[in-house]
Amino acid sequence: MRVLIISDIHANFAAFETVLTDAAGQWDIIWFLGDLVGYGPDPNECVAELKKHNHISLSGNHDQAVLGNLDIKLFNREANFAISWTQDVLTEESRAYLQAFSSKTVKEPFTLAHASPRYPVWEYIIDPGTAAENFDWFQTPYCFVGHTHVPVIFEERVSSRREIYMRAPFYMESGEPFVLGESRLIINPGSVGQPRDSDPRAAYALLDTEALMCMFRRVEYPVQVTQRRMEKFGMPRRLVERLAHGV
Ligand SMILES: [Fe+2]
Repeated sequence: MRVLIISDIHANFAAFETVLTDAAGQWDIIWFLGDLVGYGPDPNECVAELKKHNHISLSGNHDQAVLGNLDIKLFNREANFAISWTQDVLTEESRAYLQAFSSKTVKEPFTLAHASPRYPVWEYIIDPGTAAENFDWFQTPYCFVGHTHVPVIFEERVSSRREIYMRAPFYMESGEPFVLGESRLIINPGSVGQPRDSDPRAAYALLDTEALMCMFRRVEYPVQVTQRRMEKFGMPRRLVERLAHGV
């Protein structure tokens, strides 16, 4: 099975649409790792688009906040604004869709979690230490996570002691497929709608579950289209500008 792995669309329809076009014909199912809404101007459009495709979906912390399941005081001022705005514009249909998901699931030999296998709604796996603790919280060989908006692989190597290797994004720039080998891995495909690794291009991954091959991809999308819509809705300046810089 060929899987399009995407995370953190964040209501950025221009980015989502561009990823779908870029990956067209290369996947049979979407695994979406959560945060469909929040930050961006197109929550209902993104829900409607995802629903058109064969997919499974997880719930992210922004999705949970929009549904009223997380205290919005946990978020910073700009994120808070976007959550309230999304609550105002979200249709009943979109809300019902978002309500249907959990934040963690297993598709052997993969665990999928929005943030981390330990705390699926809210934990940032940004360093080998946090990754090391999380390898004890899933049983499958491999785990896909989102949430940090930064593409990365953490590899667990066990000999006399356990070591965690972090493969930085530049390793994946080539777009070369890599084989998922014997080591256990935590893999983050990055963010479609709000990348934070100083590269504004939308990020995603393609996975072949039989060959156990995975590939990281980046694609330019029309950032200004999303920015103009955010300005139209009076969204905070910082949220608009960060899309151009990938931060
Ligand atoms: Fe997110």
